[in-house]
Amino acid sequence: MTPIRSLLTAPVLLLAALCFTTAHAADTTPTAQLQHWSAQAGAPGNAAKGQSFFNAKHGGEWSCASCHGTPPTTQGKHANTGKVIGPLAPAFNPKAFTDTAKVDKWFKRNCNDVLSRACSAAEKADVLAYLNSLQ
Ligand code: HEC
Repeated sequence: MTPIRSLLTAPVLLLAALCFTTAHAADTTPTAQLQHWSAQAGAPGNAAKGQSFFNAKHGGEWSCASCHGTPPTTQGKHANTGKVIGPLAPAFNPKAFTDTAKVDKWFKRNCNDVLSRACSAAEKADVLAYLNSLQ
């Protein structure tokens, strides 16, 4: 890369970093998440299926409820570390499902812990439908 080019690249990267930081918080909503995963799955999320998915073990030691509680309307506690987890149901936690990067990160990590694989779009839509139905 020529020096001129890198001089031009630096501000662009800085700008991109700034945009990313600003977009980080509150860039989605629980309703938008439900719509997103339902669209990906090609079918609307099903709250009843989401509830049984959430409470069931899937071959491993943990269910989603092991850490998030059931129903996940109060603070959860990490099954391993004891770390306190904010309520997962959006009606009880204004921060839940408001940050795309956070949602994606934890879906990935938690699904892997519970199912030893990623959750499908349909499973995410079902879980969202269940969580959004809790009042
Ligand atoms: C081993 C403990 C554990 C298990 C099991 C677990 N989670 Fe989590 N989950 C966490 C922790 C810790 C966080 C981060 C909480 C925080 O920092 O606010 C989290 C956060 C999340 C978030 C992000 C919510 C937000 O704030 O927007 C989602 C979505 C989620 N979990 C879904 C699931 C699903 C679905 C399952 C079952 C497949 C599951 N989790 C199982 C520990 C767990």
